[in-house]
Order: sequence, then structure tokens, then C-alpha cells
Amino acid sequence: MAGGVSTPALVIAVGEAGGLGQLAAGYLPPQTVEAQVRQVQASGVPFGVNVFVAETMDPAREAEAVERYRRRLQPLAEHLDAALPEPDWADTDHYREKLDLLARLAPPVVSFTFGCPDPVDIQRLRDAGSAVVVTVTSAAEAQAAAAAGADALCVQGFEAGGHRGTWDRRAVPESAGLLALLHETQKVCDLPLIGAGGVMTSAQAAGALEAGAVAIQAGSAFLLVDEAGTRPAHRRALTEPDRESVLTRAFSGRVGRGLANTWTATFPDAPPTFPVVDQLTKPLRARAGALEDPEHLNLWAGTGWREARVGTAAEVVQRLDPALGRR
Ligand SMILES: Cc1cc2nc3c(=O)[nH]c(=O)nc-3n(C[C@H](O)[C@H](O)[C@H](O)COP(=O)(O)O)c2cc1C
Repeated sequence: MAGGVSTPALVIAVGEAGGLGQLAAGYLPPQTVEAQVRQVQASGVPFGVNVFVAETMDPAREAEAVERYRRRLQPLAEHLDAALPEPDWADTDHYREKLDLLARLAPPVVSFTFGCPDPVDIQRLRDAGSAVVVTVTSAAEAQAAAAAGADALCVQGFEAGGHRGTWDRRAVPESAGLLALLHETQKVCDLPLIGAGGVMTSAQAAGALEAGAVAIQAGSAFLLVDEAGTRPAHRRALTEPDRESVLTRAFSGRVGRGLANTWTATFPDAPPTFPVVDQLTKPLRARAGALEDPEHLNLWAGTGWREARVGTAAEVVQRLDPALGRR
């Protein structure tokens, strides 16, 4: 969970409880990723590192729509007393440096979202000793990820909190729920499937396993735990039962699921220009975070968010798999 929610402490706690936590490399400079990987490696738990697949951007095609969105954001920037930055069209989130780093550090798992790495890069990580997981949101992506050489797939359903991993950022992500998507995926590939989206309880985890997943991946279930880096305003909003979760491009240009707030209501759409839209909104969200203003933050959460519980990561792991607590 990029953006500060996943922390080394959370990954270590999940690993110690018998799960497999994942560090989020997204948005972080390689030096920080390296420091976090070394911290978790030192604890001895198994873990993964999640990377955003980068895409080359073409300002000639997209700058106009981004500029229009920028102008619409201007009053909000003034309201928050934050400056809108100039877009950096060359931003790859240090994709190649992160691949080099992970090939060197060889964590047990490297997972990807927002696309599929080249087969050569997948093989390089596998040669280094990592298992490679690719996030898919359709049967077609699953087939392509299998052909590229992935070891396993994270099958992410409509319920999922945070960004959808849909490879084509311009596409409207499929609306299939997790169980239907697991069913569709098994028809086209026989890789191990990790089910993600709306899994908050052991009954929901069992449902995904019955539908053919070998494991489940949970995000929202951990948003309120002590070890997570979830911002105070985000935590507070998650305890307000009257909210709804919605799909929106408003914060980053990519479709993500989060709690509805003033921002999602004011900006029902944004150009599908990730990460440039994300760059624009970042200082505004940072300011809203500092002001503890939940109305102008991306409050990522899946459909099951009302089931998120305050406590420790170990308690959540046990809630998802009571058998782990008895080992
Ligand atoms: C706050 C937050 C941040 C997320 N960041 C990432 C990310 O950096 N990379 C990724 O592959 N998935 C990310 N996800 C999606 C999760 O990997 C997972 O698919 C999702 O949380 C599953 O649905 P759930 O939230 O209903 O459990 C994020 C989810 C949340 C809630």
C-alpha cells in the first residue's frame, strides 16, 4: 500500500503473524526502498516488494487535458494554500533503478501493478531468486502475464481499495467482482492465483480459496492497525459509517476506490494521465493531510472498509486466517 500506509513495521508484523507482508516501492526513491528492504530482511520474515510498472508518456497527446484539470484545481489549491507543480512528463517512478535494486537485493517476492514487466525483466528477478507476481484485473491480462513468465498472479476484483491495477490506464476497469474474476482467470491460465478485493474476514477468505485462489491479498483490512502509516484524517473517515466507497480518477488519473468526499464530488472525472495527475494533486493532498482535512485527501478503501478494525496487524492476520493463531 503505497503512499505511506505500508511500513516496514507493518510488513514485519504481518510476516511474524504468519502472513506475507509487502513493502510498497511506489512513489518512493530507490534509496528509501533499499533502506526499507534491508530493515525487513534483517527481521528474517518472508516478504514482498510491490512496484509500479512505468509507461512512457506523450505530452503532445495529453498536455491539454492535464492543463484543463490543472486550471480546475486552481481554486482548491488556493483554498488549501498549496502550489500546483509543473508536470514532469519523464517521471517513471524510478522504474529501471528499482528493477536493478530488486535484482540485487532479491526479496522473496516482487509484485507489480499497473502493467506487466518485460519477460526479460521478469526472468532477471527470477534468476536472482525472487518469485514474480503480476496484478491482473481481467482474463486477458492474466493470459498475457502468464505468457510473460510470471510465477503467480494477483487477481484484483472490483471490490478492491486503492488503485485498480488495470494495465491500460485509459481503459475503464472491468466490473467483475473477485469471485467472478477468479473463475474467468482459471479458464485461461493455470498459474497460482492470489485473490484481492473485499476480503476482510475468514469467511470471505475461505470464499476466495473455494473459488480457486491459493491465497488472498488484503489491503483495507489493515488500514486501521497500529503498524500502518495511515494518516489520522484517513483513519477518522474510516470510522464514519455514513460514507460510501466510490471509483474515481480524481486524485491520480488512474481509477482507484476510496471513500467519497468533497474532492470526489467536485471532480467526478480527471484525465487518465497517471502519474502526471498524481503529481499535480500531491501537494494539495499533503496540505490536507497536515490540516487533517478528510475532504481533500484520497481516502483509499475497498467495499469492505466498514469491517476494518483498530488493533494490531497480527490480530487482523488471525481474523483472516484463524488457523495461523493456533500454530
Ligand atoms: C491504501 C491502499 C494503497 C494501495 N496501494 C497499492 C500499491 O501500492 N500497489 C498495489 O499493487 N496495490 C495497492 N493497493 C491495492 C491492494 O494491493 C489490494 O489489491 C487491495 O487492497 C485489495 O482490496 P481490499 O482493500 O478490499 O482488501 C492499495 C490499496 C489500498 C487500500
